[in-house]
Amino acid sequence: MTKKWWHDKTAYQIYPKSFLDTNGDGIGDLKGIISKLDYLKDLGVDILWLSPIYVSPFADQGYDIADYYNIDPRFGTMEDMEELIEKAKEREMYIVMDLVVNHCSDEHEWFKKACADPDGEYGNYFYIREKKDGKSPTNWRSYFGNSVWSDIPGTNKQYLHSFHKKQPDLNWENEAVREEVYKNINWWLDKGLGGFRIDAIINIKKALPLQDYEPDRADGLCSIQEMLSRANGVGEFLSEMRDRCFKPHDAFTVGEVFDEKPEELDSFIGENGYFSSKFDFNETIFGGSEKGWYDAKAITPEDYKHCCFAAQRHVGTTGFLSNIIENHDEPRGVSHYLPEGECSLEAKKMLGGLNFMLRGIPFIYQGQEIGMENTVFSSIDEVDDIATLDQYQTTLEAGYSPEEALNIVSRYSRDNARTPMQWDASANTGFTNGTPWLKVNPNYRDINVADQMNDEHSVFMFYKKLIQLRKHPRWKETIIYGTLEPVLEDEKNIMAYYRKGPETLLIIGNFQKDEQEVPLPRMPKEILINNYQEVSYDETRIHLKGWQFLVLEI
Ligand code: NOJ
Repeated sequence: MTKKWWHDKTAYQIYPKSFLDTNGDGIGDLKGIISKLDYLKDLGVDILWLSPIYVSPFADQGYDIADYYNIDPRFGTMEDMEELIEKAKEREMYIVMDLVVNHCSDEHEWFKKACADPDGEYGNYFYIREKKDGKSPTNWRSYFGNSVWSDIPGTNKQYLHSFHKKQPDLNWENEAVREEVYKNINWWLDKGLGGFRIDAIINIKKALPLQDYEPDRADGLCSIQEMLSRANGVGEFLSEMRDRCFKPHDAFTVGEVFDEKPEELDSFIGENGYFSSKFDFNETIFGGSEKGWYDAKAITPEDYKHCCFAAQRHVGTTGFLSNIIENHDEPRGVSHYLPEGECSLEAKKMLGGLNFMLRGIPFIYQGQEIGMENTVFSSIDEVDDIATLDQYQTTLEAGYSPEEALNIVSRYSRDNARTPMQWDASANTGFTNGTPWLKVNPNYRDINVADQMNDEHSVFMFYKKLIQLRKHPRWKETIIYGTLEPVLEDEKNIMAYYRKGPETLLIIGNFQKDEQEVPLPRMPKEILINNYQEVSYDETRIHLKGWQFLVLEI
């Protein structure tokens, strides 16, 4: 495999709105990110992915873009952005932006022009169809609930939106749309961006002609996934985008790819793939139900292990997965994957370590490095996220009481990951001098950056060690390019694997609070990482404390 500049990097996702506010408006900004570059450098991360900062009405927190060429004033100016790219470069860091081109905002000028003249040039930038006898063109349900179709006022026509009604889908079949997208990507890459995280990209290809499918709920609608599973040919658009934009710039790209067909893996992330990498969502989607969050099945440590290994086996050495335990669309990883009430320091480190040492590119989501946890919602009025509000309604409609519904959606809410970054123990956790746009997690006095940077046993210090190990000249080749081989797979609540390259490493985690002893496949030569002070083993057995995590050279 040809070595690429991003293979040995560690990435970090910033959710700008919640990172650091420097002007007191309660919203994080680019100046805040610039002021923390040294903190991020000290942690050891190289690639910074910023969730959208373009001009947006914020119906979906910036994933609804009204102007692809400008920075939303709430985040700062283009000069701030250029300064960020420059200052990152000085520190040998790369800035990666979010590329949201399945849809734009209904406040984008293209959509305004399309509404003014649906049969004109811009009408063809979107999916616009006549209603039939007052009925929507198809029966698909959007990701945020209700029909994917909304009216164009003053007409008998509707437009398609896979997500919120303020996010009209762009018509990728129209060459003019694709040209606009490529022009914009190249414009940003020419500014010195390292690349893009690519939003909802599978959705750009629709199964044509548009038609109804079997309903899956009492509302008579079916999940939009029904249509996507029948859509073929997305690769034509993706290879065009790769050849016209990413390849000439040697850009790093990571796709938010769900639902690709297994045989398409190589075309997606192989040597000449559409993208450099794609996220592994096997764990995050586990237990999901078409009915909604109220019907979701909780994930156990055994499920977690099997999901990770299935993804790793599927990809093998074809390409690089991007590994996460959380992002801005998920609850906090430590609250989701560790059994309830088990968010101890050791358990957090174990989960982080097991994920970080997998083959692929590790992505740390802001606050993960200090072990931030899910927040507490005392009322649905404290929730901002549209997906959570929709799920709350769905749960009530399924017969749950308001209190039960709040409990259920709290577990999965995207707002868990969107509460302000916990910098210190001062008012509003040092995130803002004003009123934060989303309530700070009340546990910030116990969990914050300032404390952890001064504590050698903190979660922060542990992540730092993991990153240093990944960069260490002796282990680098094995950790980056080595194969992954699961081991002790039948030992309950043990997740263990070899990383084999020029060296052999054994990564092992005891995914439970009770101690346990398991066979040791080979005698360790050196202990490279341990989330406790000691470990006990002999030639044949290793005794692990609850949540113990080890990286051993064997
Ligand atoms: C995926 C993004 O991560 C999510 O936050 C957003 O709501 C949808 N795509 C729509 O853009």
